Amino acid sequence: MTILEKMPAEASQTCSATVRFSDGVERAFPVRNGQTILAAAKENDVRLVHQCLTGSCGTCVTRVESGEVRMNTARGTSLLPSEAAEGFRLTCTSFCDSDAVMHFDYPSSLLDEPGPERCTAVVGEASWVASNVVRLCLRLPDDAGLEFRSGQYVRVRVPGTEEWRSYSMASTMGDLPELVLLLRVLDAGVMSDYLRSRVKVGDEMELEGPFGLFYLRDSKAQQIMIAGGTGLAPMLGMLEDIRLKSGRKPKVLLSFGCASEDNLFYQDELETRAAWLPGLKVKVAVANPGPGYTGLVGNPVEVIGAADLVDPPSAVAYLCGPPPMIESARRHLEALGLDPENIHAEHFSASAA
Ligand code: FES
Repeated sequence: MTILEKMPAEASQTCSATVRFSDGVERAFPVRNGQTILAAAKENDVRLVHQCLTGSCGTCVTRVESGEVRMNTARGTSLLPSEAAEGFRLTCTSFCDSDAVMHFDYPSSLLDEPGPERCTAVVGEASWVASNVVRLCLRLPDDAGLEFRSGQYVRVRVPGTEEWRSYSMASTMGDLPELVLLLRVLDAGVMSDYLRSRVKVGDEMELEGPFGLFYLRDSKAQQIMIAGGTGLAPMLGMLEDIRLKSGRKPKVLLSFGCASEDNLFYQDELETRAAWLPGLKVKVAVANPGPGYTGLVGNPVEVIGAADLVDPPSAVAYLCGPPPMIESARRHLEALGLDPENIHAEHFSASAA
C-alpha cells in the first residue's frame, strides 16, 4: 500500500521532496533553499535514519529516483564515487535543486524500533586473533537497553580520550550482555594505540548504538557476503541469524579475504559455521601469500565466479570492507547479473584506527 501525505506548503518553499520507504510508505514535504533534506524532513516530522549529520557515517543515504539533488562534499563524504554516480546522496549534506523523489532502502517501520542507547560497558577480554586484529569482548550493564539487528554498528569512546570510533557487532542479540567487536589495528590511531599498549580487562568504555542500515534482508534467495578483513564482523552476526531462522534456509556464499596469511583470522570459526549451516559455502582468499600457501589467491571479489551464483537476479549481496573493495564488488556483482537494488554495502571509514 502506498501512503502519500502532503504537508502544508509554506511561503518559503522552493521544492518538494518525496521520500519512499521500502515498504511502499511515502511522505512528501517542502525543502527550503539552503536547507538540507534531512533538516527539512525533521522540521516536517518526517523521521529518517541518521547519525553524524556531517556526511561521514553514510547512515542517512538515499537513492534519488527523480529530480536534482545536490550534495555538498566540501567537508568530505563517505559516499564512494560509484555510489554518487548511481544516484546515491547523503540527506544530511544534500539540497533539492528541483522537486525530487528519493528511495530509502529500509521500511518505515524501522523508525518505530528503539533508537540508539548509551551505556558504559566493561572490557571482558581483548585478544589478538591476527597480526592486525583484536577481538574485543565488552560486557554491557544489566540495565542497558541496547537492541540491534545483526550487521549494525555501535560507536565506542576510546578510553582516556574524547574520540569515538564505529565498529560493526560480530555478535547477536542472543549473546547479550556480551558484545563482540573485531577491531583492525593500524600503525597509528587513538584506538590502535589503546589496543596495542593500554587495554586491560575491566576498562570502562562508553558505547552508543545501534546505528546503520546494514542488516539481513528478508529473502529466501541466495545471500552473497563479501568481507575484507574485519568486514567479516557483521557477516558473523547475520550468519547466526540465518542459522537460527525457522524454515528453509537460503544458500549463502561468504567470500572473505585478507592481504596476507598473518592477517587471516576466524578460520576455525568459519569451518564451524559451515558445519552448522549446510547451505553455507565459504571462500577464503589471500592477496599476497607467502611461499607454501595453497589456498585461493586474490581478493574476496575476484574469487567469485558465475559458478558460485545460484540465480543472480534474485540474489542479495552484503559487502563490508575498504572502499576500493566495495567499488570493485559492486561492479563485479552487477556484471554477474545482480540487481543493484539488492546490493547492500558498509565500508570502513577513514577514522577507523
Ligand atoms: S547522518 Fe551521517 S552521513 Fe548523514
